[in-house]
Amino acid sequence: CALELIHCYSLAHDDLPCMDNSDLRRGKAACHVKYNEAIALLAGDCLHSLAFAILAECNLPAAAVRILAHAAGAEGMGGGQMLDLQANAKDEPSLRKMHELKTGALFNGALQLGLLCRADSVDEEFLQKESRRLQEFAAPFGRLFQIMNDIRDAAADSELGKTTYFTVLGERGAKTLANEAREEAISALGGEYARLTDLTNWICKE
Ligand code: IPE
Ligand code: MG
Ligand code: MG
Repeated sequence: CALELIHCYSLAHDDLPCMDNSDLRRGKAACHVKYNEAIALLAGDCLHSLAFAILAECNLPAAAVRILAHAAGAEGMGGGQMLDLQANAKDEPSLRKMHELKTGALFNGALQLGLLCRADSVDEEFLQKESRRLQEFAAPFGRLFQIMNDIRDAAADSELGKTTYFTVLGERGAKTLANEAREEAISALGGEYARLTDLTNWICKE
């Protein structure tokens, strides 16, 4: 729930005129269109605070707050949004860096928080090993999600003149890279986490 509140706040802000200037979110009027810019800004601020308030009420180790802050902040989604706005990502390595932060970091946060829910019943060594494994999964999974998104949004993105995996690599190149990311993500799971394997395959479906 805390993670989804962060996600929702990021979208209310992402659509603002000073960012992506998008009127629509999931086919409906974006928050600033339906209400106004100041309200969308404050709604995002309050969703952000509420996320941490909810997390603080959970009976989770203090590390939960650190995980969420790290996923959302400068070394995660916020930093990735900055790279996106600077629009310097014009090749595959810089797109990769941007998306691992912008998208992969929140996925990683979701996985690490899920793992932390098991902290009472497993030992520290297990937690560390699984934490590394999930982190190694989250980076290619985030990339895969974004490549598929770029393939789907190719028409709209080209109108905006955005550099995406589609514009850099073309459809065939983007699909090849998606498949590589899919394989890397699944192989990082080492045969465990069947539901994550299914989810990885599912997001590749067009
Ligand atoms: C928005 O990213 C999601 C965040 C990381 C905050 P984009 O701007 O690339 O995606 P859409 O198309 O608006 O959802
Ligand atoms: Mg954006
Ligand atoms: Mg956007």
